[in-house]
Amino acid sequence: MKIEAIPGAPQDGDLEFVLATEKEFEEIVSMSHGIYGGLDYLPSRYHSWINEKDRMVVLAKKEGDVIGLLSMFVVDDGETALLEGLRVAPWERGRGVAGVLQRFCCQMVKHRYPSVRVVRLTRDDKLTPKELNKYRVIAKQGILLVRFNAPEFSSRLSSIPLPAGPSRPSPPILLSPEEVHAVFLERGGLLKDLLPHKTVIQDWQPFQALPGNHDLLHRKSLRWMADDNVRPRVASLCTPPFPVPAGPLCFYLNIDVFGSGLRGAQEQLLSHLAAHVPGLPADVKCQLFLPPTMWRPMADFCTSVLGFQLEKGYTEQYLLEADI
Ligand SMILES: CC(C)(COP(=O)(O)OP(=O)(O)OC[C@H]1O[C@@H](n2cnc3c(N)ncnc32)[C@H](O)[C@@H]1OP(=O)(O)O)[C@@H](O)C(=O)NCCC(=O)NCCS
Repeated sequence: MKIEAIPGAPQDGDLEFVLATEKEFEEIVSMSHGIYGGLDYLPSRYHSWINEKDRMVVLAKKEGDVIGLLSMFVVDDGETALLEGLRVAPWERGRGVAGVLQRFCCQMVKHRYPSVRVVRLTRDDKLTPKELNKYRVIAKQGILLVRFNAPEFSSRLSSIPLPAGPSRPSPPILLSPEEVHAVFLERGGLLKDLLPHKTVIQDWQPFQALPGNHDLLHRKSLRWMADDNVRPRVASLCTPPFPVPAGPLCFYLNIDVFGSGLRGAQEQLLSHLAAHVPGLPADVKCQLFLPPTMWRPMADFCTSVLGFQLEKGYTEQYLLEADI
């Protein structure tokens, strides 16, 4: 469906903006080859995204062909628009299409959702000075990417020793929906001072720690853990694995860690792996987003204790914000 002209939105003679439908799926997949280091989530999310409440998936078309995609998702009680899935066809890159698409989508979201005050996005690449003028960097997490073979790891899982140390932390607790609310999302929630910018970053999606985000997060079937449900020091959430284009068959497993307490985090990692890995038939790329100081010891644990292969060195995920 062609999007009606929006007052004040940028015009570009060559480009037409439309809302994405099922019929563009193959075209989008073929122009996305090789992006995000093979961890592109869009092929798995596209069909639900185009029908999701408060989300718009906008395509830029040139002479009838799709050359760009950007999704805007309104969250945080209508205050924030998340900018996600951005991509431009390889043959159209470097000509400013991404900027035009973003400006168009920002105007559109402002027009349809007047309550939106800010846009937020996450990135792992370096920002140009111009971009640093445009966005505030409001939080960052370290990125730890490891790879392993699921059947091989599952066969060793029961013999992996628990993290060693003078006194073991209490076993990790799997949180009920009510506990998730209390630990992560209530205003003044138990974990709020440990979250980066009071934000729950689930994979690449940042959600302010607000009760209004509870139902949305609940629908994602996440696995939430903490070392304590009264005075948590470290908590984590794990997204169910899904296939990504990284290999003939490769799954992506994402775990987000907040707070401090390395051994608590290691125990929670082991619990998430034990819950999700057995039954997976192939290689897994597991990406942890974690406090930067936890990166090195967690990388050592993953390689020397769990026998995982480190896919790349330390990188960072930036949470960016701009007023609209
Ligand atoms: C990153 C990508 C979308 C840039 O598209 P492009 O049209 O070639 O970008 P250009 O350099 O011509 O346009 C520059 C504009 O895009 C913006 N931009 C570039 N990369 C961006 C990114 N990763 N996230 C958000 N905006 C980005 C710039 O801020 C600039 O905006 P401005 O016009 O307001 O100054 C494109 O290279 C691509 O599809 N890469 C593969 C997928 C990917 O890495 N997506 C980013 C996910 S965070």
